[in-house]
Amino acid sequence: MSADIIDGKAFAATIRGKVADHVKALHDEHGLVPGLAVVLVGEDPASQVYVRNKGKQTEEAGMASFEHRLPAETSEEDLLALIARLNAAPAVHGILVQLPLPDHIDEAKVINAIDVAKDVDGFHISNVGLLATGQKALVPCTPLGCLMLLRDRLGALSGLDAVVVGRSNIVGKPMAHLLLRDSCTVTVAHSRTRDLAQVCRRADILVAAVGRPEMIPGDWIKPGATVIDVGINRIPAPERGEGKTRLVGDVHFESAAQVAGAITPVPGGVGPMTIACLLANTVTACCRAHG
Ligand code: GUN
Repeated sequence: MSADIIDGKAFAATIRGKVADHVKALHDEHGLVPGLAVVLVGEDPASQVYVRNKGKQTEEAGMASFEHRLPAETSEEDLLALIARLNAAPAVHGILVQLPLPDHIDEAKVINAIDVAKDVDGFHISNVGLLATGQKALVPCTPLGCLMLLRDRLGALSGLDAVVVGRSNIVGKPMAHLLLRDSCTVTVAHSRTRDLAQVCRRADILVAAVGRPEMIPGDWIKPGATVIDVGINRIPAPERGEGKTRLVGDVHFESAAQVAGAITPVPGGVGPMTIACLLANTVTACCRAHG
């Protein structure tokens, strides 16, 4: 193996430490306690784990955590009423509605009902527009975490060729805007891209966010490239025993690590950065709310 392993777990712990210091200062100097409300509709097991972790880490950083767990059959109207209450609650500085929502609820309508200034996920159409036009926005947490890892590794990103594989609203599109803002030459590739291998081979920075286990092999990677693997895919692992599974990314780690200059592992790469950035966004929202 030649690549350096980018330790997102350690980096995220450093960010959480800085957030906790900032929270303490806000409390000691201004009597403020940043508050994050997380809304979960339904019983999706993966979402339950995320929401539990968010609540735990919010409290560990010294912030107030408000959890709202609603049954899967909650009506859109009731969910919108809850959002309206959270928008009006002074103790709540950030609101996150865990996605995906059940099919009978219009996701865009719910997200756009969140007060832009409390939209710590950065999914509200106004925050999307602010980011796209290079203005002060709340930025989606996973791509923000990827950007922090890239800047830490590479310093200035200006002029580098960046390829983002995946065009989701949560990761691919905001990632492309962030890289563009840092003056990269950005290509967004996706499932219809012709000769994806050749496109990936151009990348000094390769961000994989497609949700397909180990789809990108080492021979698609430019020697020395920095590879950020956003994928979290659970696959069968019969070698660990019957019925066992393991987590893998969208990149085939073993072969990619032979070629890349640096690579994030799964788990322990991008994953921990997402919640750390959520906490940071909540503090940002709190500071902006109080001038
Ligand atoms: N579901 C998967 N990722 C995310 C995320 O970053 N935010 C929200 N709200 N839901 C998600």
